[in-house]
Amino acid sequence: MKLKIAVLPGDGIGGEITKQALEVAKTVCKKFRHELSYKEALIGATAIEAVGNPYPDATHVLCMESDAVLFGAIGHPKYDNDPTSKIRPEQGLLAMRKQLGLYANIRPVTIFSSLIHRSPLRASLVKDTDFMCIRELTGGIYFGRPQGRSEDSTTAYDTCVYTSKEIERIVHLAYRYALQRKKKLTIVDKANVLATSRLWRQVAQQIEKEYPEVETEYMFVDNAAMQIIQVPKRFDVIVTENMFGDILTDEASVITGSLGMLPSASIGTHTSVFEPIHGSYPQAAGKDIANPLASILSVALMFEYAFSLHEEGKLIREAVNASIIAGVVTEDIATSIRSSYKTSEVGQWIVDYISKRLIAL
Ligand code: IPM
Ligand code: MN
Repeated sequence: MKLKIAVLPGDGIGGEITKQALEVAKTVCKKFRHELSYKEALIGATAIEAVGNPYPDATHVLCMESDAVLFGAIGHPKYDNDPTSKIRPEQGLLAMRKQLGLYANIRPVTIFSSLIHRSPLRASLVKDTDFMCIRELTGGIYFGRPQGRSEDSTTAYDTCVYTSKEIERIVHLAYRYALQRKKKLTIVDKANVLATSRLWRQVAQQIEKEYPEVETEYMFVDNAAMQIIQVPKRFDVIVTENMFGDILTDEASVITGSLGMLPSASIGTHTSVFEPIHGSYPQAAGKDIANPLASILSVALMFEYAFSLHEEGKLIREAVNASIIAGVVTEDIATSIRSSYKTSEVGQWIVDYISKRLIAL
Protein backbone atom coordinates (compact mmCIF):
# COMPACT_ATOMS: atom_id res chain seq x y z
CA MET A 1 0.00 0.00 0.00
CA LYS A 2 1.16 3.58 -0.67
CA LEU A 3 1.13 5.86 2.36
CA LYS A 4 1.64 9.57 1.92
CA ILE A 5 1.99 11.43 5.17
CA ALA A 6 2.66 14.98 6.32
CA VAL A 7 4.91 15.40 9.35
CA LEU A 8 4.43 18.53 11.44
CA PRO A 9 6.89 18.42 14.36
CA GLY A 10 5.84 21.84 15.75
CA ASP A 11 7.47 23.18 18.92
CA GLY A 12 9.43 22.12 21.99
CA ILE A 13 9.88 18.36 22.19
CA GLY A 14 7.73 17.95 19.03
CA GLY A 15 10.76 17.44 16.79
CA GLU A 16 12.40 14.82 19.03
CA ILE A 17 9.33 12.67 19.53
CA THR A 18 8.04 12.79 15.94
CA LYS A 19 11.52 11.82 14.75
CA GLN A 20 11.25 8.57 16.73
CA ALA A 21 7.64 8.04 15.66
CA LEU A 22 8.57 8.52 12.02
CA GLU A 23 11.40 5.97 12.32
CA VAL A 24 8.87 3.52 13.75
CA ALA A 25 6.48 4.24 10.85
CA LYS A 26 9.32 3.66 8.34
CA THR A 27 10.31 0.38 9.99
CA VAL A 28 6.73 -0.91 10.04
CA CYS A 29 6.28 0.04 6.38
CA LYS A 30 9.47 -1.76 5.42
CA LYS A 31 8.37 -4.82 7.35
CA PHE A 32 4.92 -4.97 5.78
CA ARG A 33 6.16 -3.79 2.35
CA HIS A 34 4.27 -0.52 2.24
CA GLU A 35 5.61 2.44 0.36
CA LEU A 36 5.90 5.38 2.74
CA SER A 37 6.53 8.90 1.52
CA TYR A 38 6.51 11.92 3.78
CA LYS A 39 7.09 15.66 3.78
CA GLU A 40 7.66 17.98 6.71
CA ALA A 41 6.00 21.35 7.23
CA LEU A 42 5.92 24.18 9.75
CA ILE A 43 3.33 24.83 12.44
CA GLY A 44 3.17 26.73 15.75
CA ALA A 45 5.85 28.98 17.23
CA THR A 46 8.41 27.57 14.81
CA ALA A 47 6.20 28.69 11.92
CA ILE A 48 5.67 32.14 13.47
CA GLU A 49 9.44 32.59 13.73
CA ALA A 50 10.03 31.40 10.16
CA VAL A 51 7.15 32.93 8.20
CA GLY A 52 5.04 34.95 10.67
CA ASN A 53 2.04 32.61 10.50
CA PRO A 54 1.35 29.69 12.92
CA TYR A 55 -0.44 27.68 10.18
CA PRO A 56 1.11 28.69 6.85
CA ASP A 57 -0.81 28.05 3.61
CA ALA A 58 1.93 25.69 2.44
CA THR A 59 1.33 23.54 5.53
CA HIS A 60 -2.39 23.42 4.88
CA VAL A 61 -1.85 22.48 1.22
CA LEU A 62 0.50 19.66 2.27
CA CYS A 63 -2.02 18.35 4.83
CA MET A 64 -4.81 18.37 2.25
CA GLU A 65 -2.64 16.47 -0.23
CA SER A 66 -1.60 13.82 2.32
CA ASP A 67 -3.38 10.66 3.48
CA ALA A 68 -2.58 11.36 7.14
CA VAL A 69 -0.82 13.94 9.27
CA LEU A 70 1.60 13.14 12.10
CA PHE A 71 1.69 16.10 14.43
CA GLY A 72 4.09 16.70 17.34
CA ALA A 73 3.32 19.47 19.82
CA ILE A 74 2.65 23.17 20.01
CA GLY A 75 3.43 26.02 22.39
CA HIS A 76 6.30 28.20 23.56
CA PRO A 77 6.83 29.94 26.93
CA LYS A 78 7.60 33.21 25.14
CA TYR A 79 3.92 33.43 24.20
CA ASP A 80 2.56 31.88 27.42
CA ASN A 81 4.34 34.55 29.42
CA ASP A 82 3.02 37.34 27.23
CA PRO A 83 -0.78 37.36 27.53
CA THR A 84 -0.98 40.46 25.30
CA SER A 85 0.56 38.72 22.29
CA LYS A 86 -1.95 38.79 19.42
CA ILE A 87 -0.31 36.05 17.42
CA ARG A 88 0.04 32.74 19.26
CA PRO A 89 1.38 29.26 18.39
CA GLU A 90 -1.84 27.53 19.50
CA GLN A 91 -3.75 29.42 16.78
CA GLY A 92 -1.87 27.20 14.33
CA LEU A 93 -3.27 24.02 15.85
CA LEU A 94 -6.78 25.46 16.07
CA ALA A 95 -6.61 26.67 12.46
CA MET A 96 -5.47 23.24 11.30
CA ARG A 97 -8.31 21.52 13.20
CA LYS A 98 -10.88 23.93 11.79
CA GLN A 99 -9.60 23.96 8.21
CA LEU A 100 -9.27 20.17 8.04
CA GLY A 101 -12.73 19.83 9.62
CA LEU A 102 -11.37 17.64 12.44
CA TYR A 103 -14.47 17.64 14.58
CA ALA A 104 -13.74 14.48 16.57
CA ASN A 105 -10.70 13.83 18.69
CA ILE A 106 -10.48 10.24 19.81
CA ARG A 107 -8.40 9.64 22.91
CA PRO A 108 -8.18 6.01 24.01
CA VAL A 109 -7.33 5.61 27.69
CA THR A 110 -5.82 2.18 28.21
CA ILE A 111 -3.25 1.04 30.68
CA PHE A 112 -0.36 -1.22 29.78
CA SER A 113 -0.25 -3.91 32.45
CA SER A 114 3.51 -3.37 32.58
CA LEU A 115 2.87 0.19 33.79
CA ILE A 116 0.23 -0.36 36.45
CA HIS A 117 2.80 0.16 39.18
CA ARG A 118 3.50 3.69 37.86
CA SER A 119 -0.07 4.84 38.26
CA PRO A 120 -0.63 7.08 41.28
CA LEU A 121 -3.87 5.13 41.82
CA ARG A 122 -4.08 1.72 43.45
CA ALA A 123 -3.39 -1.16 41.06
CA SER A 124 -6.77 -2.76 41.79
CA LEU A 125 -8.50 0.45 40.64
CA VAL A 126 -6.62 0.98 37.40
CA LYS A 127 -6.21 -2.63 36.27
CA ASP A 128 -8.30 -3.26 33.12
CA THR A 129 -9.07 0.43 32.62
CA ASP A 130 -10.06 0.75 28.98
CA PHE A 131 -12.18 3.62 27.82
CA MET A 132 -12.27 6.05 24.97
CA CYS A 133 -12.84 9.74 25.27
CA ILE A 134 -14.36 11.41 22.22
CA ARG A 135 -13.74 15.12 22.38
CA GLU A 136 -15.60 17.53 20.09
CA LEU A 137 -12.78 19.51 18.50
CA THR A 138 -14.00 22.34 16.30
CA GLY A 139 -16.67 24.05 18.38
CA GLY A 140 -17.37 25.37 21.84
CA ILE A 141 -15.47 28.02 23.73
CA TYR A 142 -12.27 27.44 21.73
CA PHE A 143 -13.88 28.87 18.62
CA GLY A 144 -16.96 30.84 19.74
CA ARG A 145 -17.04 34.52 18.92
CA PRO A 146 -17.04 37.20 20.22
CA GLN A 147 -13.80 36.69 22.08
CA GLY A 148 -11.65 39.52 23.33
CA ARG A 149 -11.41 42.53 25.59
CA SER A 150 -13.45 45.63 26.20
CA GLU A 151 -11.95 48.82 24.80
CA ASP A 152 -10.44 49.83 28.14
CA SER A 153 -9.12 46.26 28.49
CA THR A 154 -10.59 45.77 31.97
CA THR A 155 -13.04 43.07 30.84
CA ALA A 156 -12.44 39.95 28.78
CA TYR A 157 -14.91 37.50 27.26
CA ASP A 158 -15.07 34.12 25.52
CA THR A 159 -18.21 32.68 24.00
CA CYS A 160 -19.28 29.05 24.05
CA VAL A 161 -21.35 28.19 20.98
CA TYR A 162 -22.73 24.85 19.74
CA THR A 163 -25.21 24.15 16.96
CA SER A 164 -27.40 21.07 17.04
CA LYS A 165 -25.71 19.89 13.80
CA GLU A 166 -22.29 19.91 15.50
CA ILE A 167 -23.67 17.97 18.45
CA GLU A 168 -25.53 15.45 16.27
CA ARG A 169 -22.50 14.39 14.24
CA ILE A 170 -20.25 13.81 17.24
CA VAL A 171 -22.93 12.02 19.28
CA HIS A 172 -23.70 9.68 16.36
CA LEU A 173 -20.00 8.99 15.99
CA ALA A 174 -19.73 8.21 19.72
CA TYR A 175 -22.65 5.77 19.49
CA ARG A 176 -21.00 4.03 16.53
CA TYR A 177 -17.84 3.55 18.60
CA ALA A 178 -19.86 2.37 21.61
CA LEU A 179 -21.55 -0.24 19.40
CA GLN A 180 -18.13 -1.67 18.51
CA ARG A 181 -17.06 -1.75 22.16
CA LYS A 182 -18.85 -2.51 25.44
CA LYS A 183 -21.99 -0.64 24.36
CA LYS A 184 -21.97 1.99 27.05
CA LEU A 185 -21.93 5.72 26.38
CA THR A 186 -21.43 8.48 28.95
CA ILE A 187 -22.43 11.93 27.74
CA VAL A 188 -20.61 14.52 29.82
CA ASP A 189 -21.96 18.06 30.15
CA LYS A 190 -22.79 20.81 32.61
CA ALA A 191 -26.49 20.97 31.78
CA ASN A 192 -27.37 22.29 35.22
CA VAL A 193 -25.61 25.57 34.37
CA LEU A 194 -24.81 26.00 30.67
CA ALA A 195 -27.22 26.57 27.78
CA THR A 196 -24.88 24.81 25.33
CA SER A 197 -24.85 21.76 27.63
CA ARG A 198 -28.64 21.74 27.74
CA LEU A 199 -28.71 21.68 23.94
CA TRP A 200 -26.19 18.80 23.99
CA ARG A 201 -28.43 16.87 26.34
CA GLN A 202 -31.59 17.58 24.37
CA VAL A 203 -30.02 16.55 21.05
CA ALA A 204 -28.42 13.46 22.62
CA GLN A 205 -31.72 12.36 24.17
CA GLN A 206 -33.25 12.29 20.66
CA ILE A 207 -30.33 10.36 19.18
CA GLU A 208 -30.29 7.92 22.11
CA LYS A 209 -33.56 6.42 20.84
CA GLU A 210 -31.81 5.29 17.65
CA TYR A 211 -29.33 3.15 19.62
CA PRO A 212 -31.38 1.00 22.00
CA GLU A 213 -28.52 -1.55 22.25
CA VAL A 214 -26.32 1.05 23.90
CA GLU A 215 -26.67 1.93 27.57
CA THR A 216 -26.63 5.72 27.78
CA GLU A 217 -25.88 7.82 30.82
CA TYR A 218 -25.64 11.57 31.31
CA MET A 219 -23.09 12.93 33.74
CA PHE A 220 -22.06 16.39 34.87
CA VAL A 221 -18.44 17.19 34.12
CA ASP A 222 -17.46 17.77 37.76
CA ASN A 223 -18.85 14.37 38.68
CA ALA A 224 -17.11 12.81 35.67
CA ALA A 225 -13.78 14.30 36.80
CA MET A 226 -14.24 12.56 40.12
CA GLN A 227 -15.40 9.21 38.75
CA ILE A 228 -12.56 8.98 36.21
CA ILE A 229 -10.18 8.84 39.15
CA GLN A 230 -12.40 6.93 41.54
CA VAL A 231 -13.79 4.20 39.25
CA PRO A 232 -12.07 4.44 35.85
CA LYS A 233 -13.21 0.92 34.95
CA ARG A 234 -16.86 1.97 34.83
CA PHE A 235 -16.37 3.91 31.57
CA ASP A 236 -16.52 2.63 28.02
CA VAL A 237 -17.05 5.59 25.67
CA ILE A 238 -17.25 9.17 26.90
CA VAL A 239 -18.36 11.94 24.57
CA THR A 240 -18.08 15.58 25.49
CA GLU A 241 -17.54 19.11 24.26
CA ASN A 242 -14.19 20.63 23.38
CA MET A 243 -12.88 22.12 26.64
CA PHE A 244 -14.32 19.48 28.97
CA GLY A 245 -12.65 16.85 26.77
CA ASP A 246 -9.34 18.69 26.89
CA ILE A 247 -9.33 18.78 30.68
CA LEU A 248 -10.73 15.31 31.36
CA THR A 249 -8.21 13.59 29.10
CA ASP A 250 -5.20 15.22 30.77
CA GLU A 251 -6.67 13.96 34.01
CA ALA A 252 -7.29 10.49 32.56
CA SER A 253 -3.73 10.25 31.26
CA VAL A 254 -2.44 10.24 34.84
CA ILE A 255 -4.19 6.92 35.41
CA THR A 256 -1.99 5.39 32.72
CA GLY A 257 1.22 6.39 34.49
CA SER A 258 2.21 9.45 32.46
CA LEU A 259 0.86 12.19 30.22
CA GLY A 260 3.59 11.04 27.85
CA MET A 261 1.68 7.84 27.09
CA LEU A 262 -1.58 8.96 25.50
CA PRO A 263 -2.02 9.17 21.72
CA SER A 264 -4.96 10.59 19.83
CA ALA A 265 -6.63 10.56 16.44
CA SER A 266 -8.42 13.63 15.12
CA ILE A 267 -10.87 12.78 12.41
CA GLY A 268 -13.36 14.72 10.35
CA THR A 269 -14.06 15.82 6.82
CA HIS A 270 -10.53 15.94 5.36
CA THR A 271 -7.16 14.38 6.25
CA SER A 272 -6.94 12.88 9.76
CA VAL A 273 -4.30 14.07 12.21
CA PHE A 274 -2.50 11.85 14.72
CA GLU A 275 -1.03 13.53 17.75
CA PRO A 276 0.00 12.90 21.35
CA ILE A 277 -2.35 14.54 23.83
CA HIS A 278 0.54 16.22 25.66
CA GLY A 279 2.01 19.62 24.97
CA SER A 280 5.42 20.91 23.87
CA TYR A 281 7.15 20.40 27.27
CA PRO A 282 9.58 23.28 26.63
CA GLN A 283 11.71 22.54 29.72
CA ALA A 284 12.75 19.25 28.11
CA ALA A 285 13.26 20.52 24.55
CA GLY A 286 16.57 19.48 23.04
CA LYS A 287 17.49 17.28 26.02
CA ASP A 288 16.49 13.94 24.49
CA ILE A 289 14.50 13.02 27.64
CA ALA A 290 10.85 13.34 26.57
CA ASN A 291 8.72 10.21 26.36
CA PRO A 292 8.22 9.33 22.66
CA LEU A 293 5.55 6.68 23.37
CA ALA A 294 2.48 8.90 22.90
CA SER A 295 3.80 9.88 19.49
CA ILE A 296 4.76 6.29 18.60
CA LEU A 297 1.31 5.10 19.72
CA SER A 298 -0.21 7.87 17.58
CA VAL A 299 1.50 6.19 14.61
CA ALA A 300 -0.25 2.96 15.63
CA LEU A 301 -3.57 4.82 15.53
CA MET A 302 -2.58 6.26 12.14
CA PHE A 303 -2.10 2.80 10.64
CA GLU A 304 -5.44 1.69 12.05
CA TYR A 305 -7.64 4.72 11.51
CA ALA A 306 -6.20 6.27 8.36
CA PHE A 307 -5.19 3.09 6.51
CA SER A 308 -7.18 0.27 8.17
CA LEU A 309 -3.87 -1.55 8.70
CA HIS A 310 -4.61 -3.29 11.97
CA GLU A 311 -1.72 -5.77 12.16
CA GLU A 312 0.70 -2.87 11.78
CA GLY A 313 -0.92 -0.96 14.65
CA LYS A 314 -0.93 -4.06 16.82
CA LEU A 315 2.76 -4.69 16.24
CA ILE A 316 3.63 -1.15 17.35
CA ARG A 317 1.63 -1.58 20.55
CA GLU A 318 3.29 -4.91 21.19
CA ALA A 319 6.73 -3.29 20.73
CA VAL A 320 5.81 -0.46 23.11
CA ASN A 321 4.65 -2.95 25.71
CA ALA A 322 7.87 -4.93 25.29
CA SER A 323 9.98 -1.79 25.76
CA ILE A 324 8.21 -1.07 29.04
CA ILE A 325 8.65 -4.64 30.25
CA ALA A 326 12.34 -4.44 29.30
CA GLY A 327 12.61 -1.22 31.33
CA VAL A 328 13.71 0.79 28.29
CA VAL A 329 11.70 3.86 29.19
CA THR A 330 12.19 7.59 29.67
CA GLU A 331 12.48 9.18 33.09
CA ASP A 332 8.75 9.97 33.51
CA ILE A 333 7.95 6.27 33.78
CA ALA A 334 11.30 4.82 34.88
CA THR A 335 11.72 3.66 38.46
CA SER A 336 14.63 6.10 38.85
CA ILE A 337 16.28 8.72 36.68
CA ARG A 338 19.50 6.71 36.78
CA SER A 339 17.79 3.73 35.23
CA SER A 340 16.01 5.79 32.56
CA TYR A 341 16.70 5.93 28.86
CA LYS A 342 16.86 8.78 26.36
CA THR A 343 14.05 9.56 23.89
CA SER A 344 16.23 8.33 21.01
CA GLU A 345 17.23 5.13 22.83
CA VAL A 346 13.61 4.22 23.47
CA GLY A 347 12.79 4.90 19.82
CA GLN A 348 15.74 2.84 18.62
CA TRP A 349 14.82 -0.08 20.91
CA ILE A 350 11.30 -0.13 19.47
CA VAL A 351 12.61 0.10 15.91
CA ASP A 352 14.97 -2.84 16.57
CA TYR A 353 12.19 -4.87 18.17
CA ILE A 354 9.94 -4.37 15.14
CA SER A 355 12.76 -5.10 12.69
CA LYS A 356 13.58 -8.38 14.41
CA ARG A 357 10.03 -9.54 14.91
CA LEU A 358 9.06 -12.40 12.64
CA ILE A 359 5.73 -11.89 10.95
CA ALA A 360 3.86 -13.87 8.36
CA LEU A 361 3.03 -11.68 5.39
C1 IPM B 1 -4.48 19.51 23.29
C2 IPM B 1 -3.76 20.78 23.66
C3 IPM B 1 -4.34 21.92 22.82
C4 IPM B 1 -5.81 22.04 23.16
C5 IPM B 1 -3.61 23.28 22.98
C6 IPM B 1 -2.15 23.18 22.71
C7 IPM B 1 -4.25 24.34 22.13
O1 IPM B 1 -3.87 21.04 25.01
O2 IPM B 1 -4.39 19.09 22.11
O3 IPM B 1 -5.13 18.93 24.16
O4 IPM B 1 -6.17 22.68 24.16
O5 IPM B 1 -6.61 21.52 22.41
MN1 MN C 1 -4.85 19.48 26.15
